[in-house]
Amino acid sequence: MSTFTRTTAVTAPLVTVTLNGTALDLPEGANLAAALLAAGAVPQALFCRIGICQLCALSIDGQGGRRACRTFVRAGLALETRP
Ligand code: FES
Repeated sequence: MSTFTRTTAVTAPLVTVTLNGTALDLPEGANLAAALLAAGAVPQALFCRIGICQLCALSIDGQGGRRACRTFVRAGLALETRP
């Protein structure tokens, strides 16, 4: 359960991504870090949200060290939070 509360309606269609192998539906085109937090899918809060602190780093489609706060949701993203 996320401690963040969505304050506006989601109008974007949902697309399926995988997070550590588990399917997750997120709004297409949304900021990936915000979408993961809103879905309660990641436990840590973000710090800078502008690509500086690296607290949102994860593997995206096999490339490690990618910043979720600088990525938009699209169908089929393969996300890994494990090292
Ligand atoms: S939240 Fe700081 S780099 Fe993404």
